[in-house]
Formats: sequence, C-alpha cells, structure tokens
Amino acid sequence: MTKILKVGVIGTGMIGQEHMRRIIDLVPNAMVTGVTDTNADNAKQAASKAPNAKIFDNAEQLIASEDVDAVLICSWGGAHEEAILFALAAGKPIFCEKPLADSQAACQRIIEAEVKLGKRLLQVGYMRRYDPAYKAMKDTIDSGRIGAPLIFHSVHRNASVPDHYKGDMAISDTMVHDIDVSRWLLDAEVARVRVVAAKKNSRGGGLRDPLMALLEMDNKALASVEISVNIDYGYDIQGEISAEKGSVSLGETNKVIVKSQGHFEGEIFTDWMLRFVEAYDVEIAMWAEAARAGGVTGPSAWDGYAIQAVSDAAIKSADSGDVVELNIGEKPSIYL
Ligand SMILES: NC(=O)c1ccc[n+]([C@@H]2O[C@H](COP(=O)([O-])OP(=O)(O)OC[C@H]3O[C@@H](n4cnc5c(N)ncnc54)[C@H](O)[C@@H]3O)[C@@H](O)[C@H]2O)c1
Repeated sequence: MTKILKVGVIGTGMIGQEHMRRIIDLVPNAMVTGVTDTNADNAKQAASKAPNAKIFDNAEQLIASEDVDAVLICSWGGAHEEAILFALAAGKPIFCEKPLADSQAACQRIIEAEVKLGKRLLQVGYMRRYDPAYKAMKDTIDSGRIGAPLIFHSVHRNASVPDHYKGDMAISDTMVHDIDVSRWLLDAEVARVRVVAAKKNSRGGGLRDPLMALLEMDNKALASVEISVNIDYGYDIQGEISAEKGSVSLGETNKVIVKSQGHFEGEIFTDWMLRFVEAYDVEIAMWAEAARAGGVTGPSAWDGYAIQAVSDAAIKSADSGDVVELNIGEKPSIYL
C-alpha cells in the first residue's frame, strides 16, 4: 500500500496556511495531521481547513507525535532553530521556511546537529530554484551552450511593503532570495559584498530604498542586485546571466501581449505570491515526495547558513559603506 505522509505544521499564519493548502489539495499521498501556533486563533482557523489535523500545544509535542512523520516550519525566523533541533533529534524530515534561523550562530548549531546525524533531513524554503524560468536559466548554464557564467544581474522590485516591514528587511527578508539564486546560478559562494543605498524613493518612508549590492563570488564571478521595495508599478523580477559566449535572461511571464491603438501591453504581477505560485507548488510537492522516502533534497541548511552570513555582511556594508569580506568555512561533506 502507498505510504501516506503525515505532515505537522508549526506556525499557521499566512504562508503556513498556504503550504497546508498545497499539502491538502495538490500533493498526492500526503495529509496534514497536526498544527500548532502560539496564536490559538490561527491554529484553530488552520485546523478547520484540515479534516485530519489535531491541534498541539507546542512544536515539541507536535514533533514527538506518532501522527506526524514530517514537519513544515512556517513560524517566524526567531522560532525556527528550536523546532528544527527537536525535529532533527526525532529524525523527521523538515521543510523550514526562510530564513533558516535568525543568526549565523543559530544556523551553525543546526548544521552541527544535522552533521552529527550524518544525513540531510532539512530543506530551506528558497523557492526560486523551483520556478520554471529560473530552472530554465540554470539548465541553459549547465548545458555549457553559453560558456561559463561571469556576471549575474538580478532585479527585485516590490510595488510596496507592509507597515511591519522595517529596518534592514530589504536585505534580510528580500535580498536573501537574490543572494540564494546568485550562489546557485554562479555555482560559488560570496567572498565579498558591498551595498550602497541609492537616491531615496520618496515613497519609502524611513527605509533605505532602493539598494544596490555587488557580490564578488569566490570563483571571481560577480552578481549585481537591485532591491526596490516601493516602486508602485508592480512586483517585477528580472535576471540576466552574461557568460563567456552568450547570455540568458528570465523571459517576461505574460501569456499574451495585447496590441491596440498604437500600443502594446501585457500585465505585470502585483505580488510575490502570484509571481512564484508555481515555484511554491513544485517546492512543496517535491519536498513531500522526498520526505515520504525518508529524506530531503533542495536548498540545504548549508545554503540557509551561507545566505544568512551574506545577509549579515550586506547589512554591515550598508551601514559602514565598506566592502565586507566573508569567511564561511568549509562545507561539510553531507552538503556536497
Ligand atoms: N519563501 C518565501 O518567499 C516566503 C514568503 C513569505 C514568508 N516566508 C517566511 O515564512 C515565515 C512565516 O511568515 P508569514 O508571512 O507566514 O508570517 P505570519 O506572521 O503570517 O505567520 C507566522 C505564524 O507563526 C506563529 N508563530 C510564531 N512563533 C511561533 C512558535 N514559536 N511556535 C508556533 N507558532 C509560532 C505566529 O503566531 C503566526 O501565526 C517567515 O520566516 C517568513 O520569512 C517566506
């Protein structure tokens, strides 16, 4: 008989409930059997949408339950480490939304615990790697057709951000996705980073917005990243690789272009959830499939740690105006 994966969800806010819906509606041979949230109303609301789900008092109890084979961690970043360490100790496959944790030291403790286990059990939610356009870009690079990639240009624009988006979130919450794909597409770690704030967008309140980052990779390739989080016209993701004998760019994602009365027009996404819906669907389905077999694939704890280190260095650079060097150490063999 086919094994049904019993999934427990820790943190049932916005993305927790979105991923639950994916498990319930889209993923074959998986169901949500447990939920927990420090906000009891969110837990109740989530459980009402999952006919097989029991509400647990906390993450530790949910992870320990025999009714839970694998866990989705969708709480706030500061709560990730504790839940991950419980789940690793219980030997249960984990999907943890980004960020892996809220500090490099916490990320290192997670890596230590996973290395001690001797195998990967954790996937981090950097979902762009599952987006069909990014995937086609990566496949083009890997085919060797355009030669070695030398420069990646990444543009990440949000129409606006909510009131709780403050401080350095343009780096720690937004730029982390561009850092992830830069490392992935250029197949290298970031060695040095410089972040400069541009002329301020008057719509941006107290935020440093927009920002430009230059990532120097340890194989000498470069990535330029523009982050603009109050650009009004829409949610716009662009990317281009300049390589030794060719280039590859993300295409525009319109299904149709309308031409009328001397103009042509297409639609622009209004938010990240719409732009990356397919990536999230594939990400969660592939995680569940691997978890059913007792393991994980996809972005690892090492990726989560490396991205956290670059994000911290980028914030330091934005504060000081200096180029900040990184030294993230050797990648343990379970992540090779
Ligand atoms: N990959 C992406 O593109 C993406 C997009 C959105 C959010 N996220 C990440 O997902 C996570 C959740 O974001 P969100 O927008 O859903 O936030 P949210 O505030 O809507 O939901 C988070 C939920 O976690 C609960 N929670 C907090 N601490 C907890 C704990 N110790 N135990 C159990 N529950 C706890 C909160 O009560 C809340 O219901 C964040 O880490 C965020 O960065 C990733």
